[in-house]
Amino acid sequence: MEKRKPTNEVILSEAFPFLKDEPSEKYDFIYIDPPYYCQRNFGEFQDTWESVGDYMSMLSPCLEHAHRVLKPDGNICVHVDWHASHHVRLGLEKVFGEDNFRNEIVWCYNSGGASKSHFSRKHDNLFVYAKDSERCKFNLMREPYPRNYGDRDGFHPEGRIMNDWWQIGILSTTAKERNGYPTQKPLELLERILKAYTNEGDVVLDFFCGSGTTGEAARRLNRGFVLVDKNPKAVETAKKRLQNVAVDLLSVMDEELGI
Ligand SMILES: C[S@@+](CC[C@H](N)C(=O)[O-])C[C@H]1O[C@@H](n2cnc3c(N)ncnc32)[C@H](O)[C@@H]1O
Repeated sequence: MEKRKPTNEVILSEAFPFLKDEPSEKYDFIYIDPPYYCQRNFGEFQDTWESVGDYMSMLSPCLEHAHRVLKPDGNICVHVDWHASHHVRLGLEKVFGEDNFRNEIVWCYNSGGASKSHFSRKHDNLFVYAKDSERCKFNLMREPYPRNYGDRDGFHPEGRIMNDWWQIGILSTTAKERNGYPTQKPLELLERILKAYTNEGDVVLDFFCGSGTTGEAARRLNRGFVLVDKNPKAVETAKKRLQNVAVDLLSVMDEELGI
């Protein structure tokens, strides 16, 4: 029997050299959660830069290739925060074009730590751009109305169309989901994003994958994935967690992940 071509991969590589060798129009969707220009050392990786220009000269060439490797109906979601979100949005606009802006999703959360000199900064910015806004995929999602409107006319039985600001808890230090990798994002967030922008069988790329949250969400939702990170610990963590996603698929996973 002919060997099935693996869809799912976890690759140890810098983002740029990986991207430049990828074929054009391969991926249905890209999610990235890159460094944020926050000038912190997270232990597993450094988010420290000489200047914001230095930061953007790492990210911009990756965005150009991201555009190339997306399918014509694909979207990209770039997850950052206030430190450089204004630069990243302009970078995306340059590559994808202002007409292809889809949403700025604001992920609101509560976490410890507050300054007395300004309001607490408790949200991240997720910029979504389409390769072509006339063709891009989008699965409309609904959420409950803020009040119960019963069966009144004009109200959809499945709730209102979801807003672009989402309240989803960050992972607490004791959350079962935690895998020990710093900056790990909640599965609920990634699952919501993938449900909105992909369908079953689609292939998702994350070239700053960290502990592989995108891969786990993709696996749970029957999407394929390619995960890339330059840190061996990230790749190891992602491979380990992906082995546990669906026990019945373990043998396939082992073959696909080369583990
Ligand atoms: C914010 S973390 C991603 C966390 C991930 N979303 C999760 O839920 O675990 C960013 C990741 O980007 C990786 N990284 C930083 N610069 C990179 C580069 N140039 N190429 C590939 N990976 C890089 C870091 O090693 C780190 O794991």
